[in-house]
Amino acid sequence: MSTKSFEGIRACVFDAYGTLFDVHSAVGRHADRLPDASAVSLLWRTKQLEYTWLRSLMDRYVDFWQITQDALDFALDTYRAADAALKDDLMQAYLELSCYPEVPAVLNEIKDRGFRCTVLSNGSPRMLGSAVKNSGLQDVFDAVISIDAIGIYKPDPRVYQMAVDQLGVSPSEIAFQSSNAWDAAGAGAFGFKVAWINRFGQQPERLGTVADAELKDLTALPGLLPDS
Ligand code: LAC
Repeated sequence: MSTKSFEGIRACVFDAYGTLFDVHSAVGRHADRLPDASAVSLLWRTKQLEYTWLRSLMDRYVDFWQITQDALDFALDTYRAADAALKDDLMQAYLELSCYPEVPAVLNEIKDRGFRCTVLSNGSPRMLGSAVKNSGLQDVFDAVISIDAIGIYKPDPRVYQMAVDQLGVSPSEIAFQSSNAWDAAGAGAFGFKVAWINRFGQQPERLGTVADAELKDLTALPGLLPDS
């Protein structure tokens, strides 16, 4: 892996769900109430992402909170586990997702070294505010950017442009971190420097871009960044 491509970086932009916050921690808290908890969690996440892409193509935007509820309904129905109280508890847990263990220390180090840090996410402002607060990360970020302001989901290039506009730096001065390989591909196509945080040991997507770095979690990210 080359670190050279991260020279000139001035700001770090992070995907939220799956990258900073563990999306499977919601079902994890209520696993004993579900027949096949990990399968439900996986289908919930898969449908949630599919609905973002499909609604963007259909030009039928609803916010990520609604998408997340719709995807959960689909997953619970699929596993014959529909239950209003369980649904409420899982949605509440989604507002309080755990962050991955290395996240606070890595973000604080990057911020202390003078890099600006933002979140850029599909999440609604309320969901993101809650997740950031729940993990005590409020002081780390210069901004928490939600696509809700433009009503289109990743990987539309207009989403990545939001970070450029917010930060006032060029795309090549932004290091973008995502565990979602398709999001990493979208950000790379837009012109960001990309670290694919391959937490789940997945194969690379075939979408015509290659990440500038591939890390198993965020621990090694500060070592890629130039002296600021
Ligand atoms: C997000 C989704 C892609 O946070 O994980 O935008």
